[in-house]
Amino acid sequence: MAYFLGIDTSTTGSKALVINERGEVVAVASSPHTLQTPRPLWSEQDPREWWRAVAASIRAALEQAGIGGDEIAAVGLTGQMHGLVLLDDEGNVLRPAILWNDQRTQRQCDEIHARIGKERFIQITGNVALPGFTAPKILWVKEHEPEVYARAKHILLPKDYIRYKLTGEYAMDKADGAGTVLFDLRSRDWSDEVLAALEIPRAWMPKTFEGTEFTGSVTEEAAQLTGLHVGTPVAAGGGDQAAGAVGVGAVEPGIVGLTVGTSGVVFATTPSALIEPEGRLHAFCHAVPGLWHFMGVMLSAAGSLQWYRDTLAPDVSFDELLKEAESIPAGSEGLQFLPYLSGERTPHPDPLARGAFIGLTVRHRRAHMTRAVLEGVAFGLKDSFTLIQNAGLGEITQVRASGGGAKGALWRQILASVLEAELVTVNTTEGAAYGAALLAGIGAGAWADVLSASLACIKITGSTQPDASQVDVYRQAYSIYQDLYPALKSSFSRMGGTA
Ligand code: XUL
Repeated sequence: MAYFLGIDTSTTGSKALVINERGEVVAVASSPHTLQTPRPLWSEQDPREWWRAVAASIRAALEQAGIGGDEIAAVGLTGQMHGLVLLDDEGNVLRPAILWNDQRTQRQCDEIHARIGKERFIQITGNVALPGFTAPKILWVKEHEPEVYARAKHILLPKDYIRYKLTGEYAMDKADGAGTVLFDLRSRDWSDEVLAALEIPRAWMPKTFEGTEFTGSVTEEAAQLTGLHVGTPVAAGGGDQAAGAVGVGAVEPGIVGLTVGTSGVVFATTPSALIEPEGRLHAFCHAVPGLWHFMGVMLSAAGSLQWYRDTLAPDVSFDELLKEAESIPAGSEGLQFLPYLSGERTPHPDPLARGAFIGLTVRHRRAHMTRAVLEGVAFGLKDSFTLIQNAGLGEITQVRASGGGAKGALWRQILASVLEAELVTVNTTEGAAYGAALLAGIGAGAWADVLSASLACIKITGSTQPDASQVDVYRQAYSIYQDLYPALKSSFSRMGGTA
């Protein structure tokens, strides 16, 4: 029996997951990361900490699986998208990575649009420049840390730093490449026009590969640290959203992925390089070779509930909080929550947007506030879902829900009623790491392609229908929710980027 290893370098930690040739998970181990927010709007991590966490997780996963490194036939990589890793000519880390949820670069985004022309930029890359993406982070370093920029020789994303440590190769998958917004979406490779306009040397950019292609193999040094076998091939994999879509089988048009993780994502596969004309949806390459996808991203989904509990009810378990919220009627008796705790991307690309409870009265208890958080996140996801419904992709035949937030029945019910769509759950619950392991298995020939792997390994396990008694209440509450951000936008802006 051959085994495949998926490695996910996420914001919260690194995970190593082992599957067998039937796609069954035989081991999962993870190791946490710390996050630095040295200034308001900043979000950074030390790439070397990722590598230590990855090595520890691989060793633990091999031990748990009871197998030797030589039984791993291939490795696939995934991780948080967009984070800027800058290396010098010897591959040393030059500064902490600037992450996907860092919001410091609005000015650089404006500059990118001014240099290239916003419409032209959308035409080439499929996207508007947003502070979360990689390109504006590069300009920020050039402007604010010229001494660092002067030593830069390689630009990588988080998962590709792990690839470099594993294989010694500078390489990247096309899904994550597109998320730098330095990519030509149609040709699935670096855009010389955008690189030239931003004066970023082409030589700094790694070679790019389709998700199932091998990009190199494990080196002697990496083998010693991780327990893997020297020469084990490493597949390109994909950014966490594209690999996560592979992991739940959202790999063909019509099947929409709904992920309620730290961030919340509505993901739809597209058969060609479609673009939302105003760039309100992200349009990137898929980890499935030759396909693309749209997605709407809210920055604080389950992250909102995590913040709420850590801040206001640290001694209460999530289960207890959710149980209390169940007793509150749909609509939380008029209480609304805006989930913009880390600014927002879709549909309000605004790093200065803020979270809020609106409509509090003396009648409201903690249980109302908990339910309002669940509902506010569902309304934010409906914004993205509606954009996907209207993107001209044809009928949505199925919505597959995943991520920590979709595990609880109450939140799933609220989501189904707010979106007015049936939500299904699948047997695979390890998201992006599972997708990365499948991509490695496909590269190694265990399955013919992504669709066959998905049909063989991923099964529907549950379904949640909208509750007819909630739908009208939520339509009304959503129409109020939609008015709140526009009403508060200028106040948020005047509050500025202060903590
Ligand atoms: C996607 C995005 C986030 C991170 C989270 O565009 O920025 O989902 O990938 O890890």
